[in-house]
Amino acid sequence: MRRGIRYSDGSLFAWVSHPRVAPMVQLFGVALTGTGSCLPARPVSNDDLAAAFDLDTSDEWIRTRTGIRSRRFAAPGETSASLGAAAARTALAAAGLAPTDLDLIVCATVTPDLMCPANACLIQAALGCRPVAAFDVSAACSGFVYALSAATQFVRTGAARHALVVGAEVLSRAVNLTDRNSCILFGDGAGAAVLSATPDAGTGVRSVRLYADGSGQELIRVPSKVSPAVLPGTAAPLGRDFIHLNGREVYRFAVTRMIELIRLAEADCRELGVPGIDLLVPHQVNQRIIDAALADTGFPADRVVVNLDRYGNTSAASVPIALDEAIRTGRCNRGDTVLLVAFGGGLTWSSALVTL
Ligand SMILES: CC(C)(COP(=O)(O)OP(=O)(O)OC[C@H]1O[C@@H](n2cnc3c(N)ncnc32)[C@H](O)[C@@H]1OP(=O)(O)O)[C@@H](O)C(=O)NCCC(=O)NCCS
Repeated sequence: MRRGIRYSDGSLFAWVSHPRVAPMVQLFGVALTGTGSCLPARPVSNDDLAAAFDLDTSDEWIRTRTGIRSRRFAAPGETSASLGAAAARTALAAAGLAPTDLDLIVCATVTPDLMCPANACLIQAALGCRPVAAFDVSAACSGFVYALSAATQFVRTGAARHALVVGAEVLSRAVNLTDRNSCILFGDGAGAAVLSATPDAGTGVRSVRLYADGSGQELIRVPSKVSPAVLPGTAAPLGRDFIHLNGREVYRFAVTRMIELIRLAEADCRELGVPGIDLLVPHQVNQRIIDAALADTGFPADRVVVNLDRYGNTSAASVPIALDEAIRTGRCNRGDTVLLVAFGGGLTWSSALVTL
């Protein structure tokens, strides 16, 4: 069976390796050649937040229910694109590449500077890249893994040699800072990774899993200026431009999907002949979600990256920031296999197995 896209001239563009079609295209390995991150300088502790917005909460409640102690808030001049560009520069330096080496930029964000143009275009201009493909991905907290997957397809097929993937958010500007149910959870920041084509198929991005279930759309929503005044399935108007979430239901969803994704990744390792998962980099939401998933799967806690205590939930930026910190602090090394796991609005959930 041939699998691929047949063009009108009869040629076949195949992206699945198969004995009968493999000779028609060369598939590349997709190596992770550099990472970077950028956090705003200003830390906002639980006490700072409660005092600044007169919230009926406490440091003790936030720490014990979430594990969050502090988060970073962007300065007035900082945006998700500017944080993303700064993270990208660090990732390019780590990869030993110049902005002009890039063939593709994909940015994951739910807090872009503008509805148009895409953050990826703003980052392209800020970096001084050639006129290459640049677009945004909107998959909420799963966004970075979705963007990584999109970029992987370009690099795998030879359509791009070097791709930049960015996750960048300024959630402090999307939360209602007087709503204690949501504003305590989020922070700002950006992370980035460079993917490069390699002849070695046994390294880099090994497998990716992406899922969405729009029937859970009402659990996390951020209405914008173009949203209808009353959203479908909602009796009363939602406040515009603010994150609305059903924390308790999202919590259940997150634990279930995180368990499922870890188990699937372990099965993927067996199928691919990968010895095992050396490090788990989960989306940073709530320490209790991570603990519940580890208790169920038996995955060892000392092989999990956690920075939510310092940064809170930075949505699409959370996984690449945690990955960058893990690499820079020596938590993982060349040859290690890292599992990225993310979940969030959509509902979406996703994972990627990457050998460094
Ligand atoms: C939001 C979250 C921290 C709440 O923790 P929880 O243990 O589930 O708490 P509950 O929802 O059961 O609420 C318990 C009580 O604390 C109250 N509460 C909520 N936020 C509070 C705060 N910041 N300070 C003090 N009390 C608070 C609630 O009003 C509720 O009071 P009630 O029982 O009188 O109604 C947790 O559910 C969570 O992390 N959910 C996922 C977060 C999320 O959606 N992230 C974004 C997508 S990835």
